[in-house]
Amino acid sequence: MNKVENSFLNKTQFGEDFLWGVSTAAFQIEGAHDADGKGSSIWDVFTSQKGKIKNDHHAVTACDFYNSYQTDIDLIRELNIPNFRFSISWPRIMPTGVHPVNQAGIDYYNKIIDSLLESGIEPWITLYHWDLPHTLELKGGWTNRESVTWFSDYVAVCAHYFGDRVKNWMVINEPSVFTGAGYFLGIHAPGKKGISNYLKAMHHVTLATAKGAKVLRNAIPDANIGTTFSCTHIEPATQNAKDIEAAKRVDTLLNRTFIEPILGLGYPQKDLPVLKKLNNYILEDDLNNLDFHFDFIGLQCYTREVVKSSLLIPYIGAELVSADKRNVISTEMGWEVYPPALYHVLKKFNEYKGIKKIIITENGAAFADTVTNGKVFDIKRTHYIQDHLEQILKAKEEGLNVEGYFVWSLTDNFEWAEGYNARFGLIHVDFNTQKRTIKNSGLWFKDFLS
Ligand code: NOJ
Repeated sequence: MNKVENSFLNKTQFGEDFLWGVSTAAFQIEGAHDADGKGSSIWDVFTSQKGKIKNDHHAVTACDFYNSYQTDIDLIRELNIPNFRFSISWPRIMPTGVHPVNQAGIDYYNKIIDSLLESGIEPWITLYHWDLPHTLELKGGWTNRESVTWFSDYVAVCAHYFGDRVKNWMVINEPSVFTGAGYFLGIHAPGKKGISNYLKAMHHVTLATAKGAKVLRNAIPDANIGTTFSCTHIEPATQNAKDIEAAKRVDTLLNRTFIEPILGLGYPQKDLPVLKKLNNYILEDDLNNLDFHFDFIGLQCYTREVVKSSLLIPYIGAELVSADKRNVISTEMGWEVYPPALYHVLKKFNEYKGIKKIIITENGAAFADTVTNGKVFDIKRTHYIQDHLEQILKAKEEGLNVEGYFVWSLTDNFEWAEGYNARFGLIHVDFNTQKRTIKNSGLWFKDFLS
């Protein structure tokens, strides 16, 4: 008997109030890149350039969620999933990033929100999931300090139009990833590189996170306000002092740099000296404007990283030992499958006194799924989810704070620089026909949630 039938997991073990959901993001699913007055985002521009994305994939149509949202909402209901996380495309509702508002964009999100509520599904909105309006990028994007104002005006618009029905909000998604990949390494939109772009973007995004949350709080006093961080369990490759120190620096960069200022602890400059360069961009009073008392913190964890010291890598003096070099089981993303990572990050983030509530707002795996006789037998993904849920149970049994779990993702979708080859969905998408097929993992999740 395989583990699917054999799983002892039961929803009731997590408690009645535990939140179950599924997560998506606008650019990865919507398509309709220029429909009804939408402006271009930095990702529309980046994906239109040759050589940026694997196989030159783009998201002009993606999962066509813009047109087929009702089909997908019906599927969420069919899978018994009570909470749906999606993001707003800023240039769809503000084509140039600033006023005026595009009413057609507002109407579109209203239709989604209303349809979810009619289906008994709770909407969870992410305000920024990486698709900055291109017009703002022409003015420097997140490297321009004015981005804090642009963003808070956009947040006010979302709160005004959707706040009467939407109570759950996430301000910014994974700031470490989009600033690191987009403003330092240049492998994500907008494709900028270099330490000064990166540090400016880091500081402005952090200011914008706190400011955006305050705008939401004022506009919707009873809102449940969170923001999401990518996090990874870090281990040194050996017990040599150099590797241990290197692992500490990587841990500081990946797990601490963005959350600590938000919690009122400032940037961890002592443990990652390059962050001292941030002082060039921190203006008087900024340090008083970086924190916000979030109702919840969304953690997104997929794997662990093993780190060794390396003099060749500037600023951090460390490099990751990839999963294939370690000969471990990994996903299509090349990420090691290591469920205890989730337990370790929960333990780590539980140490922060300032976190009220933790929700796992993303976890999932990409595998090369195929449809055979109308079925997708994605046993590896099913196990991945079950094994991660067991780690959450372990954490809960130890009394750690963790109050929800959202799978990434509802359907296969556009996985940024990886294009469409990395399939993360509970539901398979044939990108030629847009046909949806619920995978084995989706069927298991449905049973589990029933
Ligand atoms: C993080 C991001 O929020 C999401 O957009 C991405 O697709 C998944 N993790 C998987 O890489």
